[in-house]
Amino acid sequence: MPFSDVADATARAAALLEAARSVLVLTGAGISTESGIPDFRSPGGLWTKYDPRKLTFDLFCSRAETRRDYWRLATQTYPVLRDAEPNAAHRAVAALERAGKLLCLVTQNVDGLHLKAGNSRERTIEIHGSSLRATCIDCGAEHDREELHRRLLAGTVEVPVCEACGGRVKPATISFGQSMPEEETARAFAAAEVCDLMIVIGSSLVVYPVASLPDVAVKAGAPLVIVNNEATPKDDLAAALVRGAAGESMTLLLRGAGLGEPLSSRSR
Ligand code: APR
Ligand code: ZN
Repeated sequence: MPFSDVADATARAAALLEAARSVLVLTGAGISTESGIPDFRSPGGLWTKYDPRKLTFDLFCSRAETRRDYWRLATQTYPVLRDAEPNAAHRAVAALERAGKLLCLVTQNVDGLHLKAGNSRERTIEIHGSSLRATCIDCGAEHDREELHRRLLAGTVEVPVCEACGGRVKPATISFGQSMPEEETARAFAAAEVCDLMIVIGSSLVVYPVASLPDVAVKAGAPLVIVNNEATPKDDLAAALVRGAAGESMTLLLRGAGLGEPLSSRSR
């Protein structure tokens, strides 16, 4: 996309943001790559290294080997997510909430970086759960994720079992084949029906039901802005396509909408 198109799209998106009062933001793994967390489908992404068909929820429930493989992968990824810092794009989304413009933030990410950047739990829907927590899928008991990580690293445990019922403990993320959290999903779709602008940041928009949120918002009359460094299947719905890096694009969008600069993480 030639630069002038990007500059025009950014200006158009900024004007829409300036006018909006009730923004639905949807983020995907692309908002966190600048924080050092690989996404899923870009070159080098998680699904280019591991086969998601081997890590489905059904296989996790039925096969001890899958639980072992799953926890081996989680032991590698957990510290990267735990120690990552929000980047300018996360801070820009937090600035939208501080400016009173954010209706709701729906994130597909399980890294907790939006909360770390200052978005409130009330307005943040972690619709695919969180890697920073672990629960028993048989009784729901919460488990200390950091403690589990220590034991996995020490080799004192290979596949965590529930302290309360002896059941199967899993990071609190939604895997392929696992049912979506009902209340969070309903809230996300309700927000899409009433927002006056929807901004998607860093998602390939290929995983449902989340990928249908832009269709619902546009059908209900909201303009759609997509900030992504590659094309998505929803591009034809967008009023502005900002083809660029999330951090820089969101900084320009915020500035163009008269909302200043995304504060650094320290000075919230
Ligand atoms: N700036 C802008 N866009 C970026 C950046 C960046 N710095 N880095 C990556 N992207 C884009 C990629 O080009 C890609 O289009 O972000 C998108 C990320 O897409 P995916 O890797 O498919 O991630 P996501 O859309 O979040 O995946 C959805 O799939 O596997 C499941 O549960 C998982 O929540 C995840 C869901
Ligand atoms: Zn249990």
